Amino acid sequence: MVRADFLIRNAREILTCAGRGPLAGPRQSQVSAIPDASLAALDGTIVFVGPAADAAAQVTLMPDAVVIDAEDHAVVPGFVDAHTHAVFAGDRRSELRRRLAGATYAEIAAGGGGIISTVRATREATEEQLVAQSRPRLDEMLASGTTTCEIKSGYGLDVASELRMLRAIATLQHQHPLDVVATFMGAHEVPTEFRDRRSEYVELVVQEMIPAVAAEKVATWCDVFCEAGVFSPDDSRRILQAGMRHGLKARIHADELGASGGSQVAAQVGARSADHLIFVPDDGITALASAGVVATLLPNAAFYLKLGRFAPARKLIDAGVPVALATDINPGGGFSPSMPFAIALACFGMNMTFEEALVAATSNGAWSLDLGDRVGSLEMDKLADAVIVRGEAINLIRMGAPSIAHVVKRGRPVGH
Ligand code: NIG
Ligand code: FE
Repeated sequence: MVRADFLIRNAREILTCAGRGPLAGPRQSQVSAIPDASLAALDGTIVFVGPAADAAAQVTLMPDAVVIDAEDHAVVPGFVDAHTHAVFAGDRRSELRRRLAGATYAEIAAGGGGIISTVRATREATEEQLVAQSRPRLDEMLASGTTTCEIKSGYGLDVASELRMLRAIATLQHQHPLDVVATFMGAHEVPTEFRDRRSEYVELVVQEMIPAVAAEKVATWCDVFCEAGVFSPDDSRRILQAGMRHGLKARIHADELGASGGSQVAAQVGARSADHLIFVPDDGITALASAGVVATLLPNAAFYLKLGRFAPARKLIDAGVPVALATDINPGGGFSPSMPFAIALACFGMNMTFEEALVAATSNGAWSLDLGDRVGSLEMDKLADAVIVRGEAINLIRMGAPSIAHVVKRGRPVGH
């Protein structure tokens, strides 16, 4: 018998997404469903998941246990959103209107919009203002089923403002039910004051920002925007390797707006994840596969940026690259906080099956953040983070329908 202070009973099925990650190739569709199932937890950690009949014999509920009747609905792991820019100040909805009228990302950026306009607003914001403005975004993510997320800095672009962003992310991690992982992204854009001195800015990132971030222990990861006109493959390698020397693990924005060489950089430095990959060339796919890099795909961004195409998920999966999904929530092209929307676009824009997309949004997202031993699947000893979906799990992709009945974080219902 195991003791439990939390139980989900009466689930039509639990799609556990169990199994040692990353789930690549044919394993990408392995959701490991248990029909007529129950899940029990103690102190936020799963102590039982299996057939309801076994739960009756194996689980003793404590007197004050919280019990959710799943009413014959389906249960899936809480989503792991492995790429967001959810902390920022200001508002760029005017850019959305300009894009709807035909302007491209590059045209908007050249006109003083884009990342640089968020940098202006973020530099003016206090740490408290950043926390207060970002908290409702995390609330929306949680209500959409996300129980763990990554958040990047990268709208400060000077030592003090980058540290302020990372402290705001740390405060949100403490205050909010979502589990939050921080990424330092001082190389998100070249700030205006370094416009014609990009290499000097790279030196500032390497010699001042990375050591300061590492000394304060406010980030786990280091990320770079490797893109024509932003940071070159050489810059990106230099920055990611400097981060690694200071204990920051590497991930990279690669091949988002064009083939940038970013996927090769990811493979060369041994990055955990290469993200976006809308324009990844075939030799980039081969490099990712042989280096064991996860492809974290962000179809919500491709959709709102009106890029007219999505990353080649099928080619990536067929080459054996594990695929994760994330929202890229940000003030420019990241208008949706919804992992179910990313799953729907993965299915209908990238020809992934629902099962592949679900694994991408859970187990492989966790792997992308090196959290595969704690979250991303419903297995013994992992966090009891789950989403209860009305009816069958595939109802998640009925966009706009209220398909989420409950979100569970660490064995407690939240956000509804
Ligand atoms: O992932 N590509 C760079 N960064 C973001 C966009 C951030 C912004 O526009 O503010 C991205 O798409
Ligand atoms: Fe991004």
